[in-house]
Amino acid sequence: MPNGADISTAPSSEIYYPSDEVVANANVPDYMEVREEALKDPVAFWDARAKEFLDWYEPYEQVLDDSNAPFYKWFAGGKTNIVHNALDRHAQSWRKNKLAMIWEGENGDQRMFSYFSLWKAVNRFANILKSMGVQKGDTVTIYMGRVPELPIAMLATVKLGAIHSVVYGGFSEQALANRITDAQSKVLVTCDGAWLRGKTVNLKDIADEAVSRSPVVQKVIVYKRTGQDVEMVPGRDFWWHDLEKLPIASPYCETEVMDAEDPLFILYTSGTTGKPKGVLHTCGGYQVHIATTLKYVFDLKEEDRWWCAADPGWITGHSYIVYAPLILGATSFIYEGAPGYPYPDRWWKMVERYNISILYTAPTAIRALMRFGEAWAERHDLSSLRLLGSVGEPINPEAWRWYYKHIGQEKCPIMDTWWQTETGGFMITPTPVVPLKPGSGTLPFAGVVADVVRANGETCDPNEDGYLVLKQPWPGMARTVWGDPDRYVETYWSEFRDFGWYFTGDSARKDDDGYFWIIGRMDDVIKVSGYRLGTAEIESALVSHAKVAEAACIGVPDELRGNVIHAFCILNAGETGSEDLAQELKQHVRHEVGPIAVPAAIEFVDNLPKTRSGKIMRRLLKAQVLGQPLGDTSTLAG
Ligand code: PRX
Repeated sequence: MPNGADISTAPSSEIYYPSDEVVANANVPDYMEVREEALKDPVAFWDARAKEFLDWYEPYEQVLDDSNAPFYKWFAGGKTNIVHNALDRHAQSWRKNKLAMIWEGENGDQRMFSYFSLWKAVNRFANILKSMGVQKGDTVTIYMGRVPELPIAMLATVKLGAIHSVVYGGFSEQALANRITDAQSKVLVTCDGAWLRGKTVNLKDIADEAVSRSPVVQKVIVYKRTGQDVEMVPGRDFWWHDLEKLPIASPYCETEVMDAEDPLFILYTSGTTGKPKGVLHTCGGYQVHIATTLKYVFDLKEEDRWWCAADPGWITGHSYIVYAPLILGATSFIYEGAPGYPYPDRWWKMVERYNISILYTAPTAIRALMRFGEAWAERHDLSSLRLLGSVGEPINPEAWRWYYKHIGQEKCPIMDTWWQTETGGFMITPTPVVPLKPGSGTLPFAGVVADVVRANGETCDPNEDGYLVLKQPWPGMARTVWGDPDRYVETYWSEFRDFGWYFTGDSARKDDDGYFWIIGRMDDVIKVSGYRLGTAEIESALVSHAKVAEAACIGVPDELRGNVIHAFCILNAGETGSEDLAQELKQHVRHEVGPIAVPAAIEFVDNLPKTRSGKIMRRLLKAQVLGQPLGDTSTLAG
């Protein structure tokens, strides 16, 4: 059934209890009781948090409206704007001179923003977007490197009541073009280039090519980061710094009043077809979910220095770099580059320099840093750290222990947070007071009802693999797939339609203590270094090459990256496979989808195993590569 464990999990007997000090200082020391209470009435729990953490221009009339399930509504009737909670209110409070964001460039550049200065920068850019014709309800696509202007562009878009669609800077031409077309964005915000491991990525060139494939774009705003040569199309392309000098870029722009259920942003994620899936989040519930989870799980306090080392272009960055820390009035640190560049202790040096107290990253980064050895960490004073976090894929116990011992100095609990682009915020996660087991996300968060079930809906026995489902709606849930509500129902709500449950696409098991262990994806999604890729998108890039007739991709476990992609290609008649052609195809995927999607191996084959209805049986390909038994082959076409 499930696709198979990507990484082996630990025996559940290894338990790490929080120290008395951690418990005594936690924001929610009685979390276990709070969680019990919330289980009895999840809606009441979220209602209380909505009042505790957020201001509303006008109060909501109903917490949860389930009259049109699965199209749930949260906080209906409430008037809000996330930018009010994230910036406007702080810029007018004592926090105005508090640091909101500290940024370090790969080349050592440093920039700092107080709440007031960030608020002003966002106002200016909102006015610039307005002058480009952006209005409430429009979409703006943002394709940038990891610079402060990325969150600024997101916040400015939302200030106007428009909807952002951030496309991760590691995607290439076709991936970007598809996303622009699907969102119908008339305005694109990009950079000349981005720094990556001492080299520049030509973002503007990629954006130009994408715009030529997706001519809906009328205006392109370009932030200068690398200073490389780029072509500017007159009347279409504008430099950010030129626009900023114009009188239109005044430092005050009214924040649009939004309904709680108005669209906030679209974030494309991979699914089972090649067409990107625009996950839609809305203005009210999302805020409640992310502010609550950050406050409870990472125990955020006024004096913390929070470092979420994800990219703002993914959901982790949206929720926990940009929005939740600002809502809570925190100080965030952002680093432009890759871990371990230009030297293996770059991260640890920054932890020391900026006095980072909470670090949240992905297992793949931990494994990469672990490879360099702990001596690099030992060179630095990491005593400022008090909590650590992990996200994106199962963390193997070996990496967990290394992180705990050498980075957390055996005093920092590790928050292994399971969630998805679609859930908006953490769903299965400990808080600092929850005893930990390496490799387990522990328990569903307060107000979240999760379970592991069989195909017929029965709850699995302890330690039995099954489908991970969410049995109750939650405020940060995706509301639909942009422009395709049927796909939303089909993808998430059809597997357990009779029960009204959301199916996550993951397989999992619960142990004897009720702790959840994520096994991996059950669908055609592959997690490579924590990045989520759909086999279909890579396959369609492969078949767009003139020599390829058919392609199939699978994920194969990899010690460092969690999984790598293994591609099978059938060539057109008259073509023969060779190492050169494999290289050419890898280059082609890099160009069309992006470097993260490049297969580690390409195998040329004469046919692919298919069901009688023509569906490729990737399960069989995977078993073949891993040398495992083929299992049930009764549906295989003869
Ligand atoms: O398979 C699960 C895995 O990542 C998937 C969601 O990917 P994405 O939408 O890109 O969001 C990633 C960041 C929230 C899930 O279906 N996943 C995420 N976090 C964990 C995880 N697997 C195991 N443990 C985690 N902590």
